[in-house]
Amino acid sequence: MTTEIRTAVFPVAGRGTRFLPATKASPKEMLPIVDKPLIQYAAEEALAAGARKLVFITGSSKRAIEDHFDTDRELEEALEEQGKEDLLKQLKDIVPSWASCIYIRQPSPLGLGHAVWCAKPVVGNEPFFVHLADDLIDAATPCLKQMADVYAERGGSVLGVETVPRTETDKYGIVATEEREGRVSRIKQIVEKPRPQNAPSTLAVVGRYVLSPTIFEKLERTGRGAGGEIQLTDAIADLLAEEPVYAYEFEGKRYDCGSKLGYLQATVEFGLKHESLGEQFREYLIGLTSNVAQR
Ligand code: UTP
Repeated sequence: MTTEIRTAVFPVAGRGTRFLPATKASPKEMLPIVDKPLIQYAAEEALAAGARKLVFITGSSKRAIEDHFDTDRELEEALEEQGKEDLLKQLKDIVPSWASCIYIRQPSPLGLGHAVWCAKPVVGNEPFFVHLADDLIDAATPCLKQMADVYAERGGSVLGVETVPRTETDKYGIVATEEREGRVSRIKQIVEKPRPQNAPSTLAVVGRYVLSPTIFEKLERTGRGAGGEIQLTDAIADLLAEEPVYAYEFEGKRYDCGSKLGYLQATVEFGLKHESLGEQFREYLIGLTSNVAQR
């Protein structure tokens, strides 16, 4: 089996109910953090980790994602005429010419496991990344690149994990692990959204995966699980019996941009780091917080 991971799958067919009404006609993954949509951060991370084929699992109201990664000649010509070279370059750099974008429609949002299964015809018999764009991770080395390095060393499958408060285990897939070495440990159990009192640990799977293609065989046989959805976690639980699956505690800070609070936190922190805007925004926030403190 190759150690190179060439394909990244982006499931973007969820309903995004936590962000309604903003996500009624437009996908959650197109919400911008400062000036870039979440899905572009996702594509950049996957490309930096070596992916060449970007596979988007789309659903209804997701056309904006295809348009975002497509060339807009009219807009490019207008920017050229106006001499806006910087913006033009930014647009052209959204997807480099050596990468390809493939769109697969998930007929209805039956769950993350089903969305990943929809990618089977284009992934083939190779390991692949799964990236959930609403988990935005700010890291010196892109999170998927960190995980690709773990995969190159160990093989199997690798899940990005982080410790969450016990009160929040029912929002995540939770793993129990053994044989810990540094940031990597082997998963011996995984459960979807356990209640805090039943959770085997507080180590939660976030939206980053390197998966062995054997997962497709498992997904084929996975029925509806938690929330009536076909869960990726249940297929991974089956995979554990056959192949090693590792938990990797990534380096970096995760923002849960599928929740309003996480989205606002990411907006503020990315705003503060922004090249042209950061300084001004910092001054604004200092003024704002001192006003709030005086009230
Ligand atoms: P979420 O659990 O965040 O669900 O899905 P959601 O529908 O996007 O958002 P809420 O909870 O209703 O607000 C996790 C990821 O799996 C994708 C979503 O697009 C998201 O990236 N997904 C989920 C699918 O692609 N298809 C599905 O059937 C379900």
